[in-house]
Amino acid sequence: MATKSLNVGLYVDENLNFGVCRDENIPKPGDGELLIETLYSGANPADIKHSTLLGIYPTRLGYDFFGIVIEAPSGSAFHVGDSVAGYTPTGIGRPAKYGTHQSYLVCPEKMAFLVPGNLPPEHAACLKVVAMTAADALYNLFKLPLPGKSTQGISDSNTSKPLLIWGASTSVGICAIQFAKASGVFPILVSASPERHALLSELGATHCFDYKSPSVIEDIKSVLNRWDFEGVPYAFDAVGNPSGVGSAQMVASCASQDAILVSVVVQKDRRFRMPLAVTDEDVTLRIPGVPHPITIPARKEDHQRALTALQWAIENYGSRFRLVSVDVFKGRAEDALEELKILAEKGRGFGKLAIMHPLQ
Ligand SMILES: NC(=O)c1ccc[n+]([C@@H]2O[C@H](COP(=O)([O-])OP(=O)(O)OC[C@H]3O[C@@H](n4cnc5c(N)ncnc54)[C@H](OP(=O)(O)O)[C@@H]3O)[C@@H](O)[C@H]2O)c1
Repeated sequence: MATKSLNVGLYVDENLNFGVCRDENIPKPGDGELLIETLYSGANPADIKHSTLLGIYPTRLGYDFFGIVIEAPSGSAFHVGDSVAGYTPTGIGRPAKYGTHQSYLVCPEKMAFLVPGNLPPEHAACLKVVAMTAADALYNLFKLPLPGKSTQGISDSNTSKPLLIWGASTSVGICAIQFAKASGVFPILVSASPERHALLSELGATHCFDYKSPSVIEDIKSVLNRWDFEGVPYAFDAVGNPSGVGSAQMVASCASQDAILVSVVVQKDRRFRMPLAVTDEDVTLRIPGVPHPITIPARKEDHQRALTALQWAIENYGSRFRLVSVDVFKGRAEDALEELKILAEKGRGFGKLAIMHPLQ
């Protein structure tokens, strides 16, 4: 299939400057890779933070996408013209071809999926990073049963213990609630702003708390006492907010002594484990204050479990699983870059942002 000649994209250079490029460099796929015309790219805080905090630069920005296959290797499960979504690789030395905030991108076949009719394109573009992160937390770190598998292999006693999701209206939290409900977890306690409580109850939360309330920890503990739990055994910080009394500290204050503690970002408190969106390959990063790059080893079996959960979410999209709110940005590449900076620095509030391509 012919490509239009201009590739408009967002990049970070070797001096950590962010910018817009408009050139004729259409990326070249390697073995086992697809060339894709990007129709939407999904925005994540990581698009900027992975450069500023984890040393991943220079590169082109973005991980999540939806698009149309314009080149596939012979024998591929994908064909020219297929609608696909997914995410692309991360780590130091990440080639520019994997950036998704550009008109054309390259994705390894194994990281892409065919988009069915029940999954709207702009939702597909925002799904994989947050759904895989939530799935890694629930199914690999907490070891809860996969959706629909509560009687196979894993004791049901895992699902009849309280799960706390702190910041359940983050996109990771929205995915986590719906997975937990589908896995039969009860009770599901969540913290969020009061205006989200009705929605979160509809998605599966059994008890909602206001994270800004001065009595939030007491309130959570008094509900736990009704089931004779002194603290929550599965405790998930889906915010990773370090300001004030950080979200991880709040989560730890509600947890039992032998709780499994999980936070979406690295915590100084070594009891916390961090879920990852990408676990099928080693990932090498540069953490501030650490003199050498560190490599997070792949967890290939865990990756397969998370993928099984993602597949369930795709099949059940619109009925038992959804991203509640997806805004679409259409316009100048410079303005799209500003949106990414705002998302990384201050947050955009509730919901996901899909960027429409080609950018002007
Ligand atoms: N480890 C990984 O691989 C990985 C992958 C993806 C994301 N992450 C991280 O996960 C976190 C969430 O990302 P996201 O994209 O899902 O977030 P998001 O959708 O941008 O989250 C927005 C929501 O955050 C909630 N919030 C903000 N401050 C809060 C606080 N102090 N307590 C409770 N809720 C708060 C607000 O909820 P209300 O509307 O209820 O106020 C808001 O609606 C980020 O730190 C991100 O970097 C990590």
